Amino acid sequence: MAVMAGNVCVTVTLLVCVVGSQALHLPRAAGTSASPRSPPKVHCWCASFPNRTLCSWPEPSHSPPTHYIATYSERNRQLEIKQCQLFPPGSSSSALSPASSSSDRLWHCHLPDLKLLTDYIINITAVYSVGSSSHLSSFMLEEIVKPDPPVDIVVSTQHFKNFRNLSVEWSPPPTWANLDIFPLQYHLQYQWENRGKTQSVKLPPFEDTKVELKLASGRTYMFQVCAKDLLGLGECSAWSSPVEITTP
Ligand SMILES: *[C@@H]1O[C@H](CO)[C@@H](O)[C@H](O)[C@H]1NC(C)=O
Ligand SMILES: *[C@@H]1O[C@H](CO)[C@@H](O)[C@H](O)[C@H]1NC(C)=O
Ligand SMILES: *[C@@H]1O[C@H](CO)[C@@H](O)[C@H](O)[C@H]1NC(C)=O
Repeated sequence: MAVMAGNVCVTVTLLVCVVGSQALHLPRAAGTSASPRSPPKVHCWCASFPNRTLCSWPEPSHSPPTHYIATYSERNRQLEIKQCQLFPPGSSSSALSPASSSSDRLWHCHLPDLKLLTDYIINITAVYSVGSSSHLSSFMLEEIVKPDPPVDIVVSTQHFKNFRNLSVEWSPPPTWANLDIFPLQYHLQYQWENRGKTQSVKLPPFEDTKVELKLASGRTYMFQVCAKDLLGLGECSAWSSPVEITTP
């Protein structure tokens, strides 16, 4: 574990340097969103080890590129260039995460079966009639893991009468394919209004998909859960949609 954490840190430093130096060679996009040659603004994340890694970027509303070329390679095998599978805005595919099917005009590309502890370089090139512009970045799966949110959140006040206990239960994100090999941890937050002010509690992470809380009666609480890799790699998912309940 300690070895792995050390490894990740070293790579993060490396990544910043490399991305920084590569950025110098790219056309500057800041402040010139109308520039016909800006590189795509790419965001990559891994919604499940090892098969569900996606990159997405918005389609510019003004003079969009004629097409994109999306490729990737391992950093130490840069001659073995693979095509990233492209999905135009509005596509629906099992390769895409539910979280990504937003109404934004987003392009996606899917990178199947990546290896752990391996540095990848992604190259998303926007091709315009007047030239082209590339976004280059590098990542390791461990750094960009971000599950989809937990689902089916159920709040029950069954034990509230005697114990003032309320239970919150949920299911792991269905897109997280290998729970046995890569378990998840969960963070729960809840909020309520007190004299016009929003109070909020965040519980420390736990592995269970159920928690019991002792809460006050006659209040409306709003619950949300997020899922994170058990080893703490990457980010917690987006918060689940809120579930509200008023205690008896
Ligand atoms: C990843 O996907 C490929 C096919 O797309 C499948 O053959 C393979 O079993 C998957 N691997 C895992 C770990 O789910
Ligand atoms: C990125 O991809 C484009 C299009 O395939 C290519 O012309 C360019 O050389 C690539 N950049 C790097 C640094 O590999
Ligand atoms: C009520 O919740 C508390 C934790 O908040 C727990 O310790 C206790 O066992 C629960 N009681 C029942 C009857 O479930």
